[in-house]
Amino acid sequence: MNDLISSVKMPFPWKKTPLLVFFLLFFLWIPSPSSSQQEPCQSCRSLTDNFNKGLERTQRENFGGGNTAWEEEKLAKYANSETRLLEVLEGVCSKSDFACNQLLEQSEEHVERWWFHEQQQHPDFFQWLCMDALRLCCPPGTYGPDCHTCPGGAQKPCSGYGQCDGDGTRGGTGLCMCQTGYGGPFCSECGDGYYEAARNDSHLVCAECYRACGRCSGPEDSSCLRCKRGWMLHDRRCIDIDECGTDMAHCRANQFCINTEGSYECRDCAKACIGCMGAGPSRCKKCNKGYRRDGVKCLDVNECAGEAEEPVCTGANEACENTDGSYRCICAEGYVRKEGICEEDKPPDAPEKGFFDDITDDEVVVLQQMFFGAIICALATLAAKGDMVFTAIFIGAVAAMAGYWLSERSDRVLDGFIKGR
Ligand SMILES: *[C@@H]1O[C@H](CO)[C@@H](O)[C@H](O)[C@H]1NC(C)=O
Repeated sequence: MNDLISSVKMPFPWKKTPLLVFFLLFFLWIPSPSSSQQEPCQSCRSLTDNFNKGLERTQRENFGGGNTAWEEEKLAKYANSETRLLEVLEGVCSKSDFACNQLLEQSEEHVERWWFHEQQQHPDFFQWLCMDALRLCCPPGTYGPDCHTCPGGAQKPCSGYGQCDGDGTRGGTGLCMCQTGYGGPFCSECGDGYYEAARNDSHLVCAECYRACGRCSGPEDSSCLRCKRGWMLHDRRCIDIDECGTDMAHCRANQFCINTEGSYECRDCAKACIGCMGAGPSRCKKCNKGYRRDGVKCLDVNECAGEAEEPVCTGANEACENTDGSYRCICAEGYVRKEGICEEDKPPDAPEKGFFDDITDDEVVVLQQMFFGAIICALATLAAKGDMVFTAIFIGAVAAMAGYWLSERSDRVLDGFIKGR
């Protein structure tokens, strides 16, 4: 049995595990989109950053503090050796950084050329590799495939108050994303809701207008020139527009309008209403089905108390339960619904069962044997008392039982012989 189980179960882990591991490895190995789609210039920059760190590291590690001419000569040789280059390259990309490893593979020849031939004339490895050799990056303040100058000039892109899209890369749109408070295509102006608090040749300071004001001449509430949406200019101040009273508000049917500062909200009417002027059942235009008007309010109709036009829940043994806006017909206590009708709820009666119904064939044999045993015992007792008649019956009964038993036995033994056992 154990052998069988083990022979059946053992193959499963062996058959399934490699598949699972394969899938896991497959998904882990596939580079996640973020790493493979990293901006190429950014990848190159981090590669050269790590390269420069590696240079520093190898310089420190191999400087033993010795000052013999021999040691100095050895160090000088190492400084530009292939050994050092390989040591530096080993730490440039982490194993899991797919983009970095791919880039390093692609630029191997360039890196070697720089190391052995160019580094004297072009000490800036980033500029040489990423800008000039691989053409992945642009000089600061420029963007796009041809390294266009950013708005506001390469010296101070976006006037120093924003980010030039694609700055320093071969990509991007070159559009300025201004800091809050600044605006215009060059970020050289103050943005919506801000005013010029100070300006000189090199600096522009923008400060916020008084709240709902979109353009102002100063910080005061009375210095507004234009208001933001939802507000109205009045006497150089901004006042809230109540959209709910105008056709500017667009609420759906069965909603009501609430004015807010600079805007408005639509909220659902109460359940008791069809159309409303405000919140709650006392602001209904019309009462909903299942409600009746009582003064200003729409109240629930209690159908169970006979407030409906026609009596409800009239079925046999039905009871009524009122709900908000409607009612429910339930069965009276002690009744349950069966096929739509309320019937008396009695537990399913168990079928009558005879005392001997549960008895198995084996038990019948045992009972038979007990019965015959009891008779033989009784006869034996009477026989022991010396009654000849009962003694005769007892002996007869024992003989009959023995014969019966033996005949049954011999039948079985014969059966066995015939079947060749
Ligand atoms: C311009 O203003 C800024 C701050 O308001 C100040 O720090 C700077 O010195 C000023 N520069 C000139 C040239 O006036």
